[in-house]
Amino acid sequence: MTSFREPTIKAAEEFVADDRALRPQRMADMVGQRDVYERLTIAIDAARKRGETLGHILLDGPPGLGKTTFATCIPREMGTTLQIASGAALAAPKDLLPYLSNAAEGSVLFIDEIHRLPIAVEEFLYPAMEDFRIDITLGDGVAARTINMPLRPFTLLGATTRAGLISAPLRDRFQMREHLDFYSVEELAEIVRRSAAKLDMPMDDASADEIARRSRGTPRLANNRLRWIRDFSTSRAGGQLDLKIARTALEMQGIDALGLDSFDRKYLDTIHRVFAGGPVGIEAIAHTMSSATDTLEDDVEPFLLRCELVIRTPRGRRITPRGEDHLGAAPKTVAPGRLF
Ligand SMILES: Nc1ncnc2c1ncn2[C@@H]1O[C@H](COP(=O)(O)OP(=O)(O)O)[C@@H](O)[C@H]1O
Ligand SMILES: [Mg+2]
Repeated sequence: MTSFREPTIKAAEEFVADDRALRPQRMADMVGQRDVYERLTIAIDAARKRGETLGHILLDGPPGLGKTTFATCIPREMGTTLQIASGAALAAPKDLLPYLSNAAEGSVLFIDEIHRLPIAVEEFLYPAMEDFRIDITLGDGVAARTINMPLRPFTLLGATTRAGLISAPLRDRFQMREHLDFYSVEELAEIVRRSAAKLDMPMDDASADEIARRSRGTPRLANNRLRWIRDFSTSRAGGQLDLKIARTALEMQGIDALGLDSFDRKYLDTIHRVFAGGPVGIEAIAHTMSSATDTLEDDVEPFLLRCELVIRTPRGRRITPRGEDHLGAAPKTVAPGRLF
């Protein structure tokens, strides 16, 4: 089997943004998501023992919870190569062709944002996923003929923030479908401690817990907050770190006791103040905030819904009494409570 190949173009950008140094390289380095982890480990182990290609896997969940991390770790565990594509960039079946024809036997093709595949590309994928073949039409009109091209068996790994947007025929072609949920404070604190060690910065348990509590259940945010605290500590605190320094740094970024930032609070405030608490449609909120509905639905709402600060009703979003309380308390620091 070939060794792990460095992922291409899109991955390169993402790796820079995410700070490659902090991304777990092996499954064993990943924290949390134990159920998903166990099931994937079993599937990988079984495929390896039988010398088979791993079945197709669909990962869904809010941004920053580890979809790409799983997607880069899985081929390493399988000892195979990885190709990375993005649903948004695959406009026509021909865009998918190089990936499919390059896929080595048993290799992994990761399609990020798979809900953004146009229907024509999706339909082109069906026989590729099911029978490892594709149908290519050559010529037009009466001269048109379809040729059948066999592919080497590969694993399709799809990731999406919107499982609901995946069509049933595509969803059903994945042997495993795994949902990633927000991390507990304990799990995030462990990630913070590990990341701090990698960044060679001091970290005590109280500060790690505080960063974890203020990271909206999301490892990517925990790492981002940690890097900011590290900058703050270097610039303002002589490289020292304690709970007070961590809190001051986070408050300077407008991050409150629940981990919400000013954009999250603006969303809550828009529903509360402009729309009298709701119910209000997502488009109206997005217009008022000069934002995109996708941003609100992907980045803002999942955690606020999870914390029951807002609810979704058939007539739109509504702020809850808890959400109103939070607005009243923010952005001042309230006693940090246990969230989950
Ligand atoms: N289970 C995990 N354990 C440790 N760190 C994690 C874990 N999941 C994610 N991370 C960190 O969070 C960052 C974002 O994760 P990523 O896989 O890119 O999220 P997604 O693709 O779901 O948006 C990673 O670079 C990594 O540093
Ligand atoms: Mg990703």
